[in-house]
Amino acid sequence: MERKEAEARIAWLRGQIEHHNRQYYLLDAPELSDYDYDLLTRELRALEEEYPELDTPSSPTHRVGGVASATFEKVPHPVPMLSLQDVFSTEEVRQFIERVKAEMPDALFVVEPKIDGLSVSLEYEAGRFVRGSTRGDGRVGEDVTGNLRTIRSVPMHLPKAPAYLEVRGEIYLPQENFGRLVEEQELAGETPFKNPRNAAAGSLRQKDARVTARRGLDVRIFNIQRAEGVTFTSHSEGLDYLRGLGLPVNLSYRRFADAEGVIGEILRIGDGRGEFPFEIDGAVVKVDSLAEREILGATSKFPRWAVAFKYPPEEKETVLSGIEVGVGRTGALTPTAVFEPVSLAGTTVSRAVLHNQDFIEELGLSVGDRIVVRKAGEIIPEVVRVAWHDAAQPVYTLPERCPSCGERVVAEEGGAVLRCPNLRCPAQRFRRLVHFASRDAMDIDGMGPALVDALLDKGLVLSPSDFYTLTSAELAGLDRMGEKSAANILAALERSKHAGLARLLFGLGIRGIGARGAALIARTFGAMEHVMAADAEELAKIDSVGGVMAASVTEYFADRENRAEVERLRALGVEMISLEEPAGEAFAGKIFVLTGTLPTLTRAEAKAKIEAQGGKVSSSVSKKTDYVVAGEEAGSKLTKAQQLGLRVLDEAGLLALLENGADL
Ligand code: IVH
Repeated sequence: MERKEAEARIAWLRGQIEHHNRQYYLLDAPELSDYDYDLLTRELRALEEEYPELDTPSSPTHRVGGVASATFEKVPHPVPMLSLQDVFSTEEVRQFIERVKAEMPDALFVVEPKIDGLSVSLEYEAGRFVRGSTRGDGRVGEDVTGNLRTIRSVPMHLPKAPAYLEVRGEIYLPQENFGRLVEEQELAGETPFKNPRNAAAGSLRQKDARVTARRGLDVRIFNIQRAEGVTFTSHSEGLDYLRGLGLPVNLSYRRFADAEGVIGEILRIGDGRGEFPFEIDGAVVKVDSLAEREILGATSKFPRWAVAFKYPPEEKETVLSGIEVGVGRTGALTPTAVFEPVSLAGTTVSRAVLHNQDFIEELGLSVGDRIVVRKAGEIIPEVVRVAWHDAAQPVYTLPERCPSCGERVVAEEGGAVLRCPNLRCPAQRFRRLVHFASRDAMDIDGMGPALVDALLDKGLVLSPSDFYTLTSAELAGLDRMGEKSAANILAALERSKHAGLARLLFGLGIRGIGARGAALIARTFGAMEHVMAADAEELAKIDSVGGVMAASVTEYFADRENRAEVERLRALGVEMISLEEPAGEAFAGKIFVLTGTLPTLTRAEAKAKIEAQGGKVSSSVSKKTDYVVAGEEAGSKLTKAQQLGLRVLDEAGLLALLENGADL
């Protein structure tokens, strides 16, 4: 393409992408499939690479919109984002208040719920949201502006804001969205997030902002970090001001003059912890006056003017009424405790996973026992211990036959896992199909558990390839399905044919191959036929793909039925080529150490470049190190490298090596 033509095309593409970003993020009315959207951005990126002089920082390829930036940029926090000293008893709260009062007898204290999420800074210039970052280590965080823009409660515009404003708040995943996410992850056979904090962090730190957008995060603001041209005398005044600007401020911030009042409020918040729209793990007690805060100061980590009271996890006693045994995608039997419903951390719970036979034996559990339950990380119910056990009852043992198909189960992994070996087992079939269609696998929009169940029930699908033979009439004939939904499903199926090799390999449900493992294999081999032809040794050569995973892949493809299924998928138009850049081998087996600041590359970028060529980046220098890449202010690592007589490069040297391949 001529430069002139490229220029026009780039302008057009940017306009299109911007338009679709708006439709997607702001109006919630996408007009394009993710796939077609990706095509637009891919074309734009390719043109910008071909004509670097036409690339600009404001191009949508450098912003939100599903373009994976290799890592997040670092953001310094001029006002450090300190964390809080935790206290676990009301006695410690009393001591804190006495300590403050000894210096400031008239101090007032604000008590706020402590949201269990992740701390972020939001910056506004002339009322426009310009930057958002994570706390990181408190002094340097990560730029997550694009992802924060997808959160509806983060205002993009504050008309009454001063020239400059930086606020701090907590990002969290509302309870119901967390529950939904965990459910989806479980159905997809992934390890679900353990608690809302991990889920919030995992959802915000996504390379693809569209994933963040889908998760449904929310925010509450609890502090002013910097404000130009406005002054306050107290924290509560500052919060009132922020609320007036239109920021979503922490729900309650009442003030108290003494320990009695503060402790009463802590207990009140604790009693009502289930009624908040967010999970709380404590209450924060803060000195209100900013002048008093100034005098009290801070240690290197914590302010001396605040503490966080942590609530103990709530426990309840109930009766175990039964143990249900489910069968997973790979045939593993999972027992679930079913008990009389109790209210815990705001929701009613009546079930908890019991993992395996060992876990049950450790508890010494049998049906009819009185048990103590709690929510781990405030979210996932678990059985903590048996409070009363009928000595006449034997400890529960898992069945010898699969509860779904009746096949005799086999013990694996030293007996810890019981598995139904029957590949035709209806329960496994259902799970496998749901997994294939799930978001991280083939991402067949609309093909959830309910629809899969209905299709199985009608005998319309048995294996994933059957999805692609479904007709509009078959789909529209199902309960609660009209022609429009049928057409949507067919369109989603069509789109999924281009999902790429990594998702397909993950979707096939090869035991032990998670999304990451599948991506690595896809990237290395590039096409399905190469993966199928690979032997265990070749597979195990891939970094992070161990012998067990390698054997699992070869075993999978050694099976005639599995090979036939892959061929059916291929014949039905499912693409079997990797969408990822093939991995280079220029640095295969070479170990690099990075030290000091490089002139143009960030450390993460340098690392990514090295890894993309098969090299490894290690954090310490040893005799095994092949290259040390040193930048400005390189310290002891450089000295050690010189002592060991290792090859030392600067950035230019690294770039040259990337061009020419390793020379050692
Ligand atoms: S005040 C310098 N208030 O809890 C004072 N923190 O270890 C900054 N948090 O990292 C903290 N709700 O992310 C404060 N109402 C609240 C909070 C809150 C949640 C988080 C915050 C911080 C951690 C404290």
